[in-house]
Amino acid sequence: MYRWLSSAASKLGLQHARTLSAHAIRLAAIVAPSVPAAALQRNVMGLTFPGPIGLAAGFDKHGTLFHALPPLGLGFAEIGSVIPLPEKQRSQGLNVVVSVLSKHLRPHAIPLGISISMNRMTPPELMANDYLICMEKVWEYADYITLNLGVRAGPDLHLPEHRATLYTVLAASKGKQVHMRAKSGRNCPLVVKIDQDRGDTNNLLACVRDYAFDGLILSGDGHINEEKIMLANLQRASKKMSGSMPIISVGGIRTPLGVAGRLAAGASLVQIYSGIVESGPLLPQRINTYLSNLAATC
Ligand SMILES: Cc1cc2nc3c(=O)[nH]c(=O)nc-3n(C[C@H](O)[C@H](O)[C@H](O)COP(=O)(O)O)c2cc1C
Repeated sequence: MYRWLSSAASKLGLQHARTLSAHAIRLAAIVAPSVPAAALQRNVMGLTFPGPIGLAAGFDKHGTLFHALPPLGLGFAEIGSVIPLPEKQRSQGLNVVVSVLSKHLRPHAIPLGISISMNRMTPPELMANDYLICMEKVWEYADYITLNLGVRAGPDLHLPEHRATLYTVLAASKGKQVHMRAKSGRNCPLVVKIDQDRGDTNNLLACVRDYAFDGLILSGDGHINEEKIMLANLQRASKKMSGSMPIISVGGIRTPLGVAGRLAAGASLVQIYSGIVESGPLLPQRINTYLSNLAATC
């Protein structure tokens, strides 16, 4: 029934499919709550994740769904990407997100990641500033913060022509983390999201490793028949980082086997977006059950 509705909604556009999913999530959180088995708990970046499956950025742009997510079996969620100023069809901007989050103070039931990025109109020399403004404002609400390096058809720090700006953004963000840690008396892990389908990932990965970030989100377009490529990329990245930081894998994960494969290939955690839109909000619970059974037989 959900798949039929989702496929009908998709024909009307991605936004309709996402809206249907958001309604389904609120309903499922009430009628079919289920948290991951204790065996699935993981400690990553100094945080406790009740399970390895998280909601990927872009789904809950402003954090309005976050409180409904823990009963779905999700072990964490990343909201945003948050940008300083509102932009039509992209985000209502930082102030709206902060006002939503101020009603959901830490500690949260599951770790809350906040993805931050820059406005489309920001010139390269001011891009780092966009990230710093967001970091300053979301720090107290976030369990971890992700630097989203860019959007399609917008400013994109994956591109070689922005390499100098990328270094500035990474260095400035690390510096801001040190400053905010001293100011707040609390650390908030800083993660970088790299899209493997854009730019020279080898160079980007080396950069993230050398700046000693707390984690890496490795994303890809993830068409279902490209699983072998995704796994090979994940293994390559895992080797390159040589255990220096945890990797969160995202892109094309739609099945329990898909999650098990990513975890076996070196991911500490995974994130899902499209799979939840297509298969419905009970997908994380189904995957958790599979993973618990797998753990019990090993
Ligand atoms: C409509 C849409 C909006 C997205 N917005 C963001 C975003 O704001 N920030 C971000 O880091 N990723 C964003 N993403 C990327 C997802 O987080 C994820 O990396 C990507 O969809 C691949 O995962 P999936 O195959 O499970 O969908 C978006 C994806 C979609 C489909």
